[in-house]
Amino acid sequence: MIEFQRIQKTYSLEHYRYDALKGVDGYVDSGEVVALCGPSGAGKSSLLSICSLLDNNYKGRVIIGGTAVTKTS
Ligand SMILES: Nc1ncnc2c1ncn2[C@@H]1O[C@H](COP(=O)(O)OP(=O)(O)O)[C@@H](O)[C@H]1O
Ligand SMILES: [Mg+2]
Repeated sequence: MIEFQRIQKTYSLEHYRYDALKGVDGYVDSGEVVALCGPSGAGKSSLLSICSLLDNNYKGRVIIGGTAVTKTS
């Protein structure tokens, strides 16, 4: 089971700031197959990177198998 709560992701560079995810909630049960759909730029890859723990620079909570993933190593 993967659960994500209030996920916020902002990309920022010197003169660039973009709120790619503005508080996304969701839940995928064990064995469940889910399609993440949306137009290009909607934030699908950003969300998948966070839920798969490839990106730890975000706000919100990811819970895997009932355990909240901390942002430690
Ligand atoms: N590394 C990055 N630096 C700056 N902006 C980014 C970066 N990655 C994605 N973005 C921006 O965040 C938004 C969402 O991107 P992305 O998660 O790749 O969407 P999708 O996978 O749905 O096409 C887009 O506007 C994109 O330009
Ligand atoms: Mg993508």
